[in-house]
Amino acid sequence: MKKLFVALMLAALPLLSFAAEHGGPELEKVDIDVSDKAALQDGARTFSNYCMGCHSAKFQRYERVADDLGIPHEVMLDKLVFTGAKIGDHMSIGMQPNDAKVWFGAAPPDLTLVARVRGTDWLYSYLKSFYADPTRPWGVNNRVFPNVGMPNVLVGLQGKQVVGCKQIQVVEGGKKQYDPLTGTPLTHEACDQLKIDTPGALTGEQFDEKVKNLVTFLAYSANPVKLQHQRIGTYVLLYLAFFFVFAYLLKREYWKDVH
Ligand code: HEC
Repeated sequence: MKKLFVALMLAALPLLSFAAEHGGPELEKVDIDVSDKAALQDGARTFSNYCMGCHSAKFQRYERVADDLGIPHEVMLDKLVFTGAKIGDHMSIGMQPNDAKVWFGAAPPDLTLVARVRGTDWLYSYLKSFYADPTRPWGVNNRVFPNVGMPNVLVGLQGKQVVGCKQIQVVEGGKKQYDPLTGTPLTHEACDQLKIDTPGALTGEQFDEKVKNLVTFLAYSANPVKLQHQRIGTYVLLYLAFFFVFAYLLKREYWKDVH
């Protein structure tokens, strides 16, 4: 009985995580491939150009990133390191958390592990969800992270995004609703449609790609040994397959006279 209970509990676990995922804003799904070197290099470039003014990735060293991503050390130092750091240094920044708190209302967190904490869909959606909001200190708000303290640093690439309002028919239980007296459709104003108001340097597709590459880099940074794991995993499986043959032959040998 007890075992059955435990089994049921375990079977129900995915439901719990499913429940936890809902409730927040809808996240856009993104397909990340951390073995895509070109995407990683582009993401690393965007990260050091647009993010490292405020965010560190201090559990990571420049050298490791350069080697993993196939970037020569001189190119790395020339194009991706702006702090005068040496190749073996951690990817830290000069901004002090206390100053940052005064400037932004919140200190920009270290981003080395953020992909593990938030997940790649969240990051992708977050970076694409800034919209103009004059009531906020930087003139922008964010759909995924309401009242965020971060400005939209990618606005030059993406363009200015605004939220457009639309009348949408009320739907309850899958049925469109009508006013019982007049028969006219019941509508409500939905002000949740994000759209580009003033175009940026990139087209929508190019911008999506940029953000995807950046998220790919963050995913790699949160788990740099993943590539190695995949390689080692293949060897382990090959070894097991090979070993199985001998184990089987040995077993046949031992049991030969028993039957
Ligand atoms: C001008 C400074 C600044 C720059 C540049 C900047 N950020 Fe931020 N970022 C912040 C601040 C401040 C916060 C904290 C916001 C808060 O908690 O309200 C933040 C928060 C975040 C968060 C949320 C972290 C979490 O889990 O709470 C992510 C992810 C993030 N930034 C990613 C980026 C990326 C990627 C870039 C580069 C494209 C970038 N940021 C550039 C200031 C900056």
